Amino acid sequence: MLFTTNLFDYKINAMDPQLVVALDTDIETARHLVLSASNVLWFKVGYRLFLRHGQEIIPFLQANDKRIFLDLKFHDIPNTMVNAAREVVSLGVDMFNVHVSAGSEALTRVMEMVELARREGKDVLCIGVTRLTSQEASLDDVVDMARLAKECGLDGVVCSVYEVEAIKAVCGRDFLCVCPGIRPGGNSKDDQRRVASPMDARERGADFIVMGRPILEMSEADLQRLPGILFQG
Ligand code: C5P
Repeated sequence: MLFTTNLFDYKINAMDPQLVVALDTDIETARHLVLSASNVLWFKVGYRLFLRHGQEIIPFLQANDKRIFLDLKFHDIPNTMVNAAREVVSLGVDMFNVHVSAGSEALTRVMEMVELARREGKDVLCIGVTRLTSQEASLDDVVDMARLAKECGLDGVVCSVYEVEAIKAVCGRDFLCVCPGIRPGGNSKDDQRRVASPMDARERGADFIVMGRPILEMSEADLQRLPGILFQG
């Protein structure tokens, strides 16, 4: 799998969705996963790790040439969202997210700030959370949220695999679909509802798949074979 240095060109070369490993762990386990899954480029840092060890894990991932999805799912008044997003961008992460339900003013103002950062050379993607994959959701609802995200200038959305085709039909092929709720066959759904396998994600055109708990259960040998083993037929 190829990944160009330009975040915005990668889809041209990528055959499979990019795997994003969710580091929903303590700091020691996170370091171990990053070093063991040495062929994985993207890692997601969420509340647990960021709140206690943000100052440590972000530089650690950057020192290991990894791409960072900072998953803090901002949802607040526009002014607070812009200020929070500015802080996130200043950390040098590659992707962050906001809730689409924060509304068009908040989304538009966040993207104005992101555009300014891009002009200063920061390649950062801003992705809108539609409906959480831990909940049931109607396709129309998720597509409507994706349309709003697109109109406000976001780079893509977090959605389930089942919504990717409809979103891309409305928002365009380059509008990124980041899909959690990924479970290889036989894995427990845990608290996720709208789940799909990595192969489904590939067939339906997901750009990124986010996986946490199934990866924590993998053997050391399988971690070293990521991401390829996920897409073996
Ligand atoms: O362990 P599991 O594979 O279910 O982890 C999915 C990850 O994706 C978690 O870190 C969760 O917080 C995150 N996520 C999600 N649904 C969203 C956005 C993020 O499950 N809409």
